[in-house]
Amino acid sequence: MSMMNQLLGWVDARFPLSKMWKEHLSEYYAPKNFNFWYFFGSLALLVLVIQIVTGIFLTMSYKPDGELAFGSVEFIMRDVEWGWLIRYMHTTGASAFFAVVYLHMFRAMLYGSYKAPRELIWIFGCLIFLVLMAEAFFGYLLPWGQMSYWGAQVIINLFQAIPFIGPELAVWIRGDFVISDASLNRFFALHVIALPIVLLGLVVAHIIALHEVGSNNPDGIEIKKHKGPDGKPLDGIPFHPYYTVKDIVGVVVFLMVFSLVMFFAPEMGGFFIEHPNFIPADPMKTPEHIAPVWYFTPYYAILAAVPAIGGSAFPGVAAMGAAVVILFFLPWLDRQPVKSIRYRGLCYKVLLFGFVANFIMLGYLGAVPPTPVKTLLAQIGTVYYFGFFFALWFLPMFEKTKPVPERVTS
Ligand code: HEM
Repeated sequence: MSMMNQLLGWVDARFPLSKMWKEHLSEYYAPKNFNFWYFFGSLALLVLVIQIVTGIFLTMSYKPDGELAFGSVEFIMRDVEWGWLIRYMHTTGASAFFAVVYLHMFRAMLYGSYKAPRELIWIFGCLIFLVLMAEAFFGYLLPWGQMSYWGAQVIINLFQAIPFIGPELAVWIRGDFVISDASLNRFFALHVIALPIVLLGLVVAHIIALHEVGSNNPDGIEIKKHKGPDGKPLDGIPFHPYYTVKDIVGVVVFLMVFSLVMFFAPEMGGFFIEHPNFIPADPMKTPEHIAPVWYFTPYYAILAAVPAIGGSAFPGVAAMGAAVVILFFLPWLDRQPVKSIRYRGLCYKVLLFGFVANFIMLGYLGAVPPTPVKTLLAQIGTVYYFGFFFALWFLPMFEKTKPVPERVTS
């Protein structure tokens, strides 16, 4: 033991190991009333690690070449030892990432976690969300299946709709006039190295910002306001061991669900891996219905809902971009000082649950082939999506909130 202490002392004299352990774990005081919704931050970290580790192993056998890519993925599935497991962990991980992150974002909306002083945590989160979308999009081209190819074709073509620079921009992104081997090579570079580095950096910034101001909680009150004589928050408990142990429970349950999907339904009926992606990319044959993977479909529905003007798809593209960008402004759009939904008025509760239902409806509409009725529904859904953010601005004028307690309630 003393050998260990000596070694630790040696390290601490050269690197702040014990200091970091204390600051971020054993002496990081977190509110004692965290609930179910607080599992998803640590789960997002877990999925990030799963994606990086399985990604490294996939890269060992994958070939980023238009002639070889599809075959190399089949090789991984059939011939590489445990290759099928590594690949299914990575594909299931992609969907799990978005599921976990969407729930994590919803928690922030439940408890007003994006409000002062946590605006930067939220902004780093929005940047993570944006980069995650790009990461998933670039990764989806790599198996070089029909949906990889045509999905990328459709999305990159959207950039052509941007006035003046659009057509050149689309060629610049693809590195060619159509999706080709050049596009595959650069998407590979972005997917395996550039974006993961950015993502990791943003996650570190997200956690540093969180630990600077401290976590919010289901009551939406600041535990730092009430400190004991020892200077520790009265309603706080050290993250380690209390929340490390709690998070392990979340990890175990999550891994059970993850394994069920991975072993028994890795394609999830075409939602996690779309059926046309089992056919090699064919630039001469467009699939019957092109739709992105489920986590993009709410935004895809917004894109398709906004009518083109003068043959230009730009309004739809702009609406889709605005649907993501508006998230960055949430801390300033929601002017209600009461943070948690527990003490907010009925109108906020109705609006928020309507927002969730609407997001799910848009997700469905973005996945199925359009009909006039479905397009109309998507248009209504798009208006609600943006209307929600504007309603938040006006809500405090007439919202009847409940008194917020001084100390955490449970
Ligand atoms: C790779 C993705 C992400 C990782 C690994 C991650 C990680 C974490 C962790 C570990 C926490 C603390 C534990 C918790 O509160 O659950 C946290 C808190 C938070 N995250 Fe994230 N996060 C990610 C994405 C996002 C996104 C996309 C947003 C929003 C757009 C976001 C917004 C927040 C907020 C507002 C908090 C503070 C919550 C509170 O104190 O109540 N995060 N994040």
